[in-house]
Amino acid sequence: MLVLGGGTGWILPYLYEINPKFEIHYIDVSKNMIAHAKGKVSSVNNIQFMVGTVENITDHDFDCVVTNFYLDLFDNAKLEELVPQIKVSLLPGAYWLQQILWPSRDGIG
Ligand SMILES: C[S@@+](CC[C@H](N)C(=O)[O-])C[C@H]1O[C@@H](n2cnc3c(N)ncnc32)[C@H](O)[C@@H]1O
Repeated sequence: MLVLGGGTGWILPYLYEINPKFEIHYIDVSKNMIAHAKGKVSSVNNIQFMVGTVENITDHDFDCVVTNFYLDLFDNAKLEELVPQIKVSLLPGAYWLQQILWPSRDGIG
């Protein structure tokens, strides 16, 4: 599983709860976020933490990618580059889990 722009690592205990054997590649451009995320788990055996971006992904066999509150950081032109870069790292039929923030019709929230 690839977690991209993972942030503080709040999701890691939940992923462990689902399956403690998940192999997770956890990437964030911020070394502070990676440090926070490491603090969220007692065992890091199945987790490869990396300070970096999509450019640093070398594996192409993920069966799941998580991009919570990440894609909404980028404009459409960047997304047109970014989405294919993520897709090449995924196996056919992989799951893509994401949450995004989007303005409501009144522009709030
Ligand atoms: C809004 S936060 C969301 C964090 C987390 N996914 C969550 O659900 O709370 C966006 C995260 O993406 C990271 N980020 C920003 N640009 C990035 C990039 N180009 N590559 C990887 N991570 C990036 C930031 O450091 C930040 O931790």
